[in-house]
Amino acid sequence: MAATHILFFPVVLHLFLLWPHAASASGLHPVVLLPGATCTQLEARLTDAYLPPSPQCAAAAAAAPRGARWFRLWKNSTALDDPTVAPCVADQLSVVFDRVAGDYRDTRGVETRLLDFGSTRGFLADDPADRDLCMGRLVEALERVGYRDGETLFGAPYDFRQPPAAAGQPCRSFSRFQRQLRALVERASRTNGDKPVVVVSHSQGGYFALEFLNRSPMAWRRRHVKHFVMASTGAGGFVGSMRFLATRDDSPLGRVGRSSAIKFTPLPSPKVFDRHTPLVITRHKNYTAEDMPEFMAAVGLPASEVALYKTRALPVAMSFRAPVVPTTCVNGGGVPTTETLVYWDGDFGKDPRVVYGDGDGVVNSASILALDTVIGDDPKQEYYRSVKIAGASHVGVVSGAAALRRVIAVILQDNFV
Ligand SMILES: *[C@@H]1O[C@H](CO)[C@@H](O)[C@H](O)[C@H]1NC(C)=O
Ligand SMILES: *[C@@H]1O[C@H](CO)[C@@H](O)[C@H](O)[C@H]1NC(C)=O
Repeated sequence: MAATHILFFPVVLHLFLLWPHAASASGLHPVVLLPGATCTQLEARLTDAYLPPSPQCAAAAAAAPRGARWFRLWKNSTALDDPTVAPCVADQLSVVFDRVAGDYRDTRGVETRLLDFGSTRGFLADDPADRDLCMGRLVEALERVGYRDGETLFGAPYDFRQPPAAAGQPCRSFSRFQRQLRALVERASRTNGDKPVVVVSHSQGGYFALEFLNRSPMAWRRRHVKHFVMASTGAGGFVGSMRFLATRDDSPLGRVGRSSAIKFTPLPSPKVFDRHTPLVITRHKNYTAEDMPEFMAAVGLPASEVALYKTRALPVAMSFRAPVVPTTCVNGGGVPTTETLVYWDGDFGKDPRVVYGDGDGVVNSASILALDTVIGDDPKQEYYRSVKIAGASHVGVVSGAAALRRVIAVILQDNFV
């Protein structure tokens, strides 16, 4: 044991002294990326406690040895494209709310883990179609200006099924993510000549990044975060997410969305959408952002789900606030975006008539503009800039050529001051 230590120590010392210096020679501020929902790659293994939901899933599970082998659960295109296996993926990817623990967990008999925390490989699916959606184009653009995965460029994937819960509510998944990201940011900084990092998020990643920052000590934020670049996240969710609550989408993602708290995170927040703006219209009753519990009941969500929305999700939405570290929000606009849903005869099982307004195709401009007041006008927020890219869509902000040039310029600005 002692001998191992003696041999090990010079190696560690060597790395410690030389590596930071070598890496910082690039002169770049390290960048940590948080991609959007469904980008994170998850692995799973089945234990003896797994109860397959159907004979087909039992057969598929029997073919895989239990206990030992980790397999790709998400995103496994081979499994998803096989109609007999896709429902099994949906089942294994679902989470359940454990009343005793007061927290979500993997479904019984399934253990999941992130494929790779710290690297962009942790969220870049093998499926090339996801490169636009999952920051793949941004990674390529960063590599063209000299960034290197694992040296100056890092990935912070998160379990997208388990968004941060209100302070004081158990949320082991997000707590683990906070610890991992804090350690990653410190390591990225240390190995790059103590330069503070640039945190860049897209879409749902913005909620994770913002909660992470706001729950980190102020001194830590100031010391370690040079700049937070938040792309395609509004201050108050988007109306289109209400449609998801109403539909009975039985695809794997639909079922996972229904089982978990991700269905709550993007709901229009009363912080941004006021009590006078009907978001859903029916003949007899309209629903505003403040009527979300009534809307949930109307579309058939059980009271227990409504309670989870009120206790775990809504307080997070209401506390959306300035991260205080220098922040630039980058958003698209000028794309038709769901602004009102009309279920005239009150049948939520039918497709609604959609009234479109301005936004990035997903997030409404009201939610995007609110960033300027919620973050920009906070007296504690010293540096805030809002970049609006006309004609860029929600995903186009991190995948279109012109938008990428703007985003890269925002990220690089820290290297020249
Ligand atoms: C994809 O899923 C199938 C079925 O669950 C599994 O047998 C296979 O090993 C998975 N692929 C990978 C790369 O893990
Ligand atoms: C719902 O909102 C629409 C549009 O603002 C309004 O015309 C209508 O009277 C409202 N209906 C009810 C039942 O309040």
